[in-house]
Amino acid sequence: MKKRIAVLTGAGVSAESGLGTYRDNGGLWDNYDPMEVASIEGWYRNRSKVLEFYNMQREHLRSAKPNDAHRAIAGLEKDYIVDVITQNVDNLHERAGSTHVVHLHGEATKVRPENCYNDEDGFSEKQVFDVGYDAVHLGDKAPNGVQLRPHIVFFGEAVPKMEQAIELVSKADIVLIVGTSLQVYPAAGLYRYASPEAPIYIIDPADVPLWDKRIHHIRKVATEGMKDFVQML
Ligand code: OAD
Repeated sequence: MKKRIAVLTGAGVSAESGLGTYRDNGGLWDNYDPMEVASIEGWYRNRSKVLEFYNMQREHLRSAKPNDAHRAIAGLEKDYIVDVITQNVDNLHERAGSTHVVHLHGEATKVRPENCYNDEDGFSEKQVFDVGYDAVHLGDKAPNGVQLRPHIVFFGEAVPKMEQAIELVSKADIVLIVGTSLQVYPAAGLYRYASPEAPIYIIDPADVPLWDKRIHHIRKVATEGMKDFVQML
């Protein structure tokens, strides 16, 4: 029976693909106010501004390529059952070959009508459309006649995939965390659902704000840290 690895990723795993992180020096949130471009209040205040921000994200993603860390994570599927739970809205895990990816914070290449929020409010995957890397503007509507919005979990919104993520982390034999500052809840608390026997590895070149005796910190960038992790397995 194959063991299970839950891999929790954040912006750091895509940094070496040229996509900026949010909170590092010079990161996205140094240049944009998340409450203006990535919150539900920001959406209702100025839809065009939010649409432009995600148009820019899609444009960056168009030219970005998966890096060796994404590929090493996908390669773990040879010997393990791998569940990738990512806070990233890019599609680099899928493009590297990972077959089971849960996007906790949504996906930049998708949109949905703005009157469809989450599971409890009647959110249906059928209403989600793939726009690839194309821009979306005010006035672009879904077939139901409603303005399209990014398929992103904005600040201030519930995280519909949290339950699924908790279940996957709790049944993992090994938990691997790559490139996240662990500052955004509820995603940041996910590792606490790991079974008491599961070792927890964190790959991040920066300090890690956690204390748990099971944690092994590999203080390297994602591509280098993944090499160490794979060797250690
Ligand atoms: P952050 O920008 O908060 O954190 C990035 C982490 O990656 C930091 O811990 C860095 O030290 C680390 N890092 C930087 N370069 C790295 C590299 N080459 N290899 C490995 N690690 C590296 O990004 P997240 O934690 O992903 O949500 O942010 C969480 C959420 O906040 C995002 O999903 C986004 C944001 O607001 C929404 O927009 C809803």
